[in-house]
Amino acid sequence: MEQKKTFYITTPIYYPSDKLHIGHTYCTVAADTMARYKRLRGYDVMFLTGTDEHGQKIEDKAKEAGVTPKEFVDRIVTGKRGVLDLWKLMNISNDRFIRTTDDYHAAAVQKIFKKMYEKGDIYKGEYVGKYCKPCESFWTESQLVDGKCPDCGREVQDAREEAYFFRLSKYADRVQHLLEDTDFLEPRSRVNEMVNNFIKPGLEDLCVSRTSFTWGIPVDFDPGHVVYVWVDALFNYTTALGLFNDRYDDYEKYWPADVHFVGKEIVRFHSIIWPAMLMSMEMPLPKKVFGHGWLLLDGGKMSKSKGNVVDPYILAERFGVDALRFFLLRTFPFGSDGNFSNEALINTINVDLANDLGNLLSRTVSMVGKYFDGTLPKERQADALDEELSSMVSSLRDRYEEQMEHFAFQNALGEVFKVISRANKYIDETMPWVLAKDMEANGARLATVMYHLLETLRVSGILLTPFIPTSAAELLRQIGACENCSTWESAGVFGSLPADVTVTRGENLFPRIDLKKELAELETAIQTSQAKKTEAKEEPKAESPASSEITIDDFCKVELRVGEVISSAFVEKSNKLLRNVVKIGEEERVIFSGIRKWYSPEEMVGKRVIVAYNLKPRKMMGEMSYGMILAADDGQGNLSLLTTDKTDFPSGSTVG
Ligand code: MSP
Repeated sequence: MEQKKTFYITTPIYYPSDKLHIGHTYCTVAADTMARYKRLRGYDVMFLTGTDEHGQKIEDKAKEAGVTPKEFVDRIVTGKRGVLDLWKLMNISNDRFIRTTDDYHAAAVQKIFKKMYEKGDIYKGEYVGKYCKPCESFWTESQLVDGKCPDCGREVQDAREEAYFFRLSKYADRVQHLLEDTDFLEPRSRVNEMVNNFIKPGLEDLCVSRTSFTWGIPVDFDPGHVVYVWVDALFNYTTALGLFNDRYDDYEKYWPADVHFVGKEIVRFHSIIWPAMLMSMEMPLPKKVFGHGWLLLDGGKMSKSKGNVVDPYILAERFGVDALRFFLLRTFPFGSDGNFSNEALINTINVDLANDLGNLLSRTVSMVGKYFDGTLPKERQADALDEELSSMVSSLRDRYEEQMEHFAFQNALGEVFKVISRANKYIDETMPWVLAKDMEANGARLATVMYHLLETLRVSGILLTPFIPTSAAELLRQIGACENCSTWESAGVFGSLPADVTVTRGENLFPRIDLKKELAELETAIQTSQAKKTEAKEEPKAESPASSEITIDDFCKVELRVGEVISSAFVEKSNKLLRNVVKIGEEERVIFSGIRKWYSPEEMVGKRVIVAYNLKPRKMMGEMSYGMILAADDGQGNLSLLTTDKTDFPSGSTVG
């Protein structure tokens, strides 16, 4: 029997220190779509994703949260609404999921590190340079931009310590050749950036071990050193197939990878460091690295620290997983940056999915129902009008394939939607409702028109399956496409549906959305979710036994004032907050407070409370809150407001 062709595709493994946002979802959805496309074409696909769980940043964050690093990453990866939950929700069809904290991976990385050491490609030296903690990247002075990290623009720290180095310089020429003379890295524009910015100025050896923290894979022959997180992370692509471990056994089958999808800021690691290490290991190189663009918000990269992340959970739950998947790949060219906006999302859903595709499906299925009771007669009557549509449909698969093979998702969808628009125009041209007036004379002609529409839907449905799997399956069900006429092969042929096909009316796949109303509701949903998170953070906490001491100067930074509550109200959609208006001297301020469980609004009014007066205002429930009302907490779930002993003490008085 002929062996199926294999296709191995990977996403970057997500670093679970930041909040998962729509940007991370973008790459995973793209890889999923590619994996599904290849499966549709009959390939034996291995689609890998996972998490990159070591490094100083995780160690620090875990410490901050008062948990072990493993507990910290477990919560983000396997916890509620964590990474695994999100990929399930987004219908990601990965065949394997690797966590770099898995034992088999760690043991394999130790062997890899040792092998490069024994070969002389890793040697011990002293690291002197700069380190960007958020990026886990080392830089030389000359690589910094205005003294800051060239990737993220943040401050870097001085770093000097005994460390192991990888002889990256030794592989500079081979890597340059790989980049310049082959199609290893795409889009092509990224090649110049790599060669001019990193290789031509001289590739320095790379520091590949750290001693200043412990959350990493130990260098087994030199305790105290842990393997640099990028070495650990990059080899995931091979350990997940079974390299140097018994957990899996398909390295021979799938390696080298057909493509690594990676975001543009990590192209350097994948197109310079990764091939150089593979050269050192004498392993085959991946066939391609594709560096995709970023999803931007208001022109800037999303990041939790900037507070501008877009939550994929909220969008998927409001608009549906398929609509969100579709939007991501339809709107932005994969290789370039794109600006995310809720308006663009809703417009794409309305124009492409509701108007063009959804309408074509519901009109066609309902016309076949109305005029033929759901089953087409076999008689046909052709017309010159049919030819343009049927030839567009029969050549669609090839045009789509051409784009998909270049990872041009947007263009592939563009091809499908050109045909869908043409079919909608064909309805206007053929005017089925006029034909239906005289079924005896026009029945065969009307059936021909309907068949053309159903065939357009069938081929489009097959080709849309990788993008919108659930909706495309429902579309194919409604038009009565059997298994044999839902295959890749059948998508290349016009006329696969049986002549007397039976359709089944179903739900409207993509209802139209009222843009204005939805934008307003979305805003509320986002704020409610943010407020919930804030409230969760404000849950009474037992005081840490090791609460650190502060100086009097620190204490004096907090300005406390007496305030009089002049009105108070429940907050809709929050079971914790009260919205208080507090008079502080001459000033009146709105202050939200999580005390609803202990105080009613009536009890609040008239109280002299103590307010943290110079606290930075923040948005809660869509409105700014100016300051904080102080309360005592006994750690047993009881709260008591701090008030002045003299009940008429003047509001605005300072406290200290
Ligand atoms: N852990 C490394 C990858 C190691 S692979 C051996 C990492 N992780 S990450 O969580 O920071 O990023 C994962 C991917 O998400 C990267 O490809 C990154 O480019 C991508 N994105 C993060 N924000 C993004 C956008 N706003 N837009 C598009 N992709 C972005 O890097």
